[in-house]
Amino acid sequence: MTRIVEPELLDALPPEDADAERSRIDLRWINAWMGHRPILERTLESLPTQNVRRLVELGAGDGTLALALATSLHTRWPDVEILLVDRLSLVTDETVEKFRLLGWRARPLQADVLVPDILERLEADVVLVNLFLHHFEETALRRILGWAASRSQCFVALEPRRSRVVRMSCELLWLIGCNRVTRHDARISVRAGFQNRELSQLWSQTPDWSLCERSAGLFSHLFIAGRTGP
Ligand SMILES: C[S@@+](CC[C@H](N)C(=O)[O-])C[C@H]1O[C@@H](n2cnc3c(N)ncnc32)[C@H](O)[C@@H]1O
Repeated sequence: MTRIVEPELLDALPPEDADAERSRIDLRWINAWMGHRPILERTLESLPTQNVRRLVELGAGDGTLALALATSLHTRWPDVEILLVDRLSLVTDETVEKFRLLGWRARPLQADVLVPDILERLEADVVLVNLFLHHFEETALRRILGWAASRSQCFVALEPRRSRVVRMSCELLWLIGCNRVTRHDARISVRAGFQNRELSQLWSQTPDWSLCERSAGLFSHLFIAGRTGP
């Protein structure tokens, strides 16, 4: 399957639109069905980077996935500032407070990562993205990955796997109650997803990084880049 990036309905709807709100709830279910929380927990726990103090999530949405990860990781990484970057302002004060109770300082940042200088101002021990990179064409992907390679120690991406089986499974989303926006965007997302070593090939070719890219779970594609040099 050739990779095709098309606009998603959710990105065009106002955040307060009823279908958009419902679709964001669907997204939590989809993350659960895809097993993204356990996959990311295992991945983050196995990172060689000890003593993580600063985490950035790009395309963090309402921050609920990051909060679930914080619930598992806060004893291992007790002193973390997490920057939740998204084009939309979706992180509530209640979510920020839940991070605080775990000992993590959550800072929502409403910003479009493609606006020049936005990423360049940020740096992190670990950069995390979940269901985010598939929004972008190759030029934008190279920019995002290039930034991560210059400003972080570790980069973890969990995205839809581009395959016919995953594409067919999107037709079953009505069974778990997903609305028309979610069902449409799921098909678009899989067509824009990744396979093989596509993200590794876009990563800047330096010897200071070790890369791992593989399928994960039934529906997903995992890319991990860890700095090995200075
Ligand atoms: C499919 S959602 C995933 C949200 C979250 N990572 C999750 O798994 O629940 C993709 C998110 O990326 C955000 N997004 C899309 N393009 C963006 C951009 N150029 N800059 C910042 N955020 C963007 C959207 O607003 C949306 O919240």
